[in-house]
Amino acid sequence: MLASDYFIQFSQRLSGHPKEEHQAIFKELLHFHKVHSNGYWPDLTLENKIIAEIEKQLIALNTQKPLQYVLGLAPFYNVDIKVNEHTLIPRSETEELVHLILEENKGSALNVLDIGTGSGCIPLILLKNRPQWNALGLDIDAKAIKIAQLNARQLKISSRLTFKKVDVLKENFDLKDINILVSNPPYIDESEKATMSKTVLNFEPEKALFTLTGDPLIFYKRIAREMELQNFKGKAYFEINPIYDEQMLDTFKSFSPTLSKDMQQKNRFLHIS
Ligand SMILES: C[S@@+](CC[C@H](N)C(=O)[O-])C[C@H]1O[C@@H](n2cnc3c(N)ncnc32)[C@H](O)[C@@H]1O
Repeated sequence: MLASDYFIQFSQRLSGHPKEEHQAIFKELLHFHKVHSNGYWPDLTLENKIIAEIEKQLIALNTQKPLQYVLGLAPFYNVDIKVNEHTLIPRSETEELVHLILEENKGSALNVLDIGTGSGCIPLILLKNRPQWNALGLDIDAKAIKIAQLNARQLKISSRLTFKKVDVLKENFDLKDINILVSNPPYIDESEKATMSKTVLNFEPEKALFTLTGDPLIFYKRIAREMELQNFKGKAYFEINPIYDEQMLDTFKSFSPTLSKDMQQKNRFLHIS
């Protein structure tokens, strides 16, 4: 069947996604199935096998499952990162955080610790761009770690990037020899649920979004305390909830922190150098 003919049927049955996004979604699906045209995609002929696959994906999309979970892939800093229901979909703000770290750290062999690593997106991109760096990613979720390990293998950096299942609120983590500490921990307060999209709430892992403790700053407080106890001398980079920017400065006050803004001009990052 011609892609243009099939697209009309697809678009008529795709629900819950703005009409103007239908073509973009469809093209993503073609790309995922490696259906490539030299020019104009509507002229492509789609095999029945591909149409059957897209039909399954259409059913999943109609449950409002995010496209990244339907594909099992999320683009992040020019790399397709594997994701599933155990990992957060990496956000563009986190790409900005990674970019900031790469811009400020061109040096040779450095050790990175990523707390709350999820898909591993942060250390994956850092190590892909810095061939002499090593990193350790910590996460409470063994299933997220499995995906992070697959990602590292795919990028051929497993020998420099290890992952460990650790509950950082309850277990110890060592900052000795760490040059760069980075973390994008859960930071949404449950009171914000009312304003959040159903797609996020229904499909993204709750423990990746919310601290589930009643204290939205609990991870930062815990990390700041360890930095003090272990006399941490390296650099640190955090993605933060802009509504708590002042409290964040206070939490890390003994390290002379700086805030910086994301593309939407919100105080989204706190760094210590
Ligand atoms: C906001 S997500 C960030 C994921 C990834 N670093 C990113 O930027 O897309 C927070 C991560 O922290 C992990 N996490 C939640 N509670 C934790 C805990 N007590 N100890 C370690 N990791 C935890 C979650 O499983 C999740 O992967």
